Amino acid sequence: MSSNDAERRLVSGMRPTGRLHIGHYHGALKNWVKLQHEFQCWFFVADLHALTTHYDDSADIEQHTFDTVVDWLAAGLSPSAATIFVQSKVPEHCELHLILSMVTPLGWLERVPSYKDQQTRLKNRDLSTYGFLGYPLLQAADILMYRGGNVPVGEDQVAHVELTREIARRFNHIYGREPQFEELAERAIDKMGKKAARLYRTARKEYLEQGDMDSLERAKALLGEQQNLSIGDRERLFGYLEGGGRIILPEAKALLTETSKVPGLDGEKMSKSYGNAIGMREEPSVVEKKIKTMMTDPARVRRNDPGDPDKCPVFALHQVYSDEETKTWAANGCRTAGIGCIDCKGPVIDAVCAEQATFIDRAKQFEENPDLVRSILIEGSEAARDEAKLTLDDVKAAVGISYR
Ligand code: TRP
Ligand code: SF4
Repeated sequence: MSSNDAERRLVSGMRPTGRLHIGHYHGALKNWVKLQHEFQCWFFVADLHALTTHYDDSADIEQHTFDTVVDWLAAGLSPSAATIFVQSKVPEHCELHLILSMVTPLGWLERVPSYKDQQTRLKNRDLSTYGFLGYPLLQAADILMYRGGNVPVGEDQVAHVELTREIARRFNHIYGREPQFEELAERAIDKMGKKAARLYRTARKEYLEQGDMDSLERAKALLGEQQNLSIGDRERLFGYLEGGGRIILPEAKALLTETSKVPGLDGEKMSKSYGNAIGMREEPSVVEKKIKTMMTDPARVRRNDPGDPDKCPVFALHQVYSDEETKTWAANGCRTAGIGCIDCKGPVIDAVCAEQATFIDRAKQFEENPDLVRSILIEGSEAARDEAKLTLDDVKAAVGISYR
């Protein structure tokens, strides 16, 4: 497969958290719906990832997976445009995860920011498991499985995609080498002179065994300074540090496209667990009630007090839902105390309800006939499996365990 193919492919997943809210829609899903026509897409529910943090609370995973997928379909994802599936229905993810785990330095996983963050934040969960440490590696397997070059994710996931790239590079380096590559590289090291050769070997070892990035940089700088290396040998030694052989698993990159942040009802990040979310499919009366009681600029206590739209989460909703004219009306009305907050909220309520009407309408047939969703997932998972098997065949052949 050429890197060109990887460029056209895209992989992304979501953990099954149950019904989605409009923050999921504007922050990710809406973008997926657009991307499904621009790339060859694999979208899956990461149910095994849910187990890494909630292994003791797994009873609802299936229901949550179902609800998540209904909301994907409600948003406009289409099984005829994208492959939609469930991670655990493609057991090859586990196999690739295991094989990759063999080449993953512990330090690389311990250094991923979310590892320590989550352990501090989710104090009430047991996160000192092997599975949780491997969370980003399982994600790497998800991505590399479909040899996707693009991964649309939020800022918080960028470190995981970077790790994925490092793993791919290391795998290709170890298993994609040309015959004799090692011998030629070793001979090139000897040409550097005793001291430089020793420094290079130590730095390379530190990088490969502990994933130490400073060592990698040191080794690269050292190669840059060498006067008596041929261009070929220099290239070889750069490759010897990081790869340079055959590419079995292409490197992926995070696709950070423009998405909108929808604040929660209290102005904090929208999240079901904070109780500040507006679902994608709620009764209009519920939407109305939630927005009517939504927080506004705290400085605007009385109707006559002017407010500051930039300090108001309702205005952030205008930014997502309103046209220019409405936004100007709201901002000016707020600053001059020309309108009250209830007036200001009116167009937002209408726009959110109108959007939800489409979602509710699309979801109806799936709610009424859950077998429809089941068959989408069965078909999608089979298609994903076919692709996954191709990758694993290559991976196993490269490792030397294909028994053909
Ligand atoms: N970790 C991602 C999240 O929490 C979910 C995920 C799992 C994912 N596997 C993936 C995202 C592969 C992109 C690609 O949002
Ligand atoms: Fe917020 Fe609108 Fe009230 Fe201003 S008028 S504080 S923007 S709700």
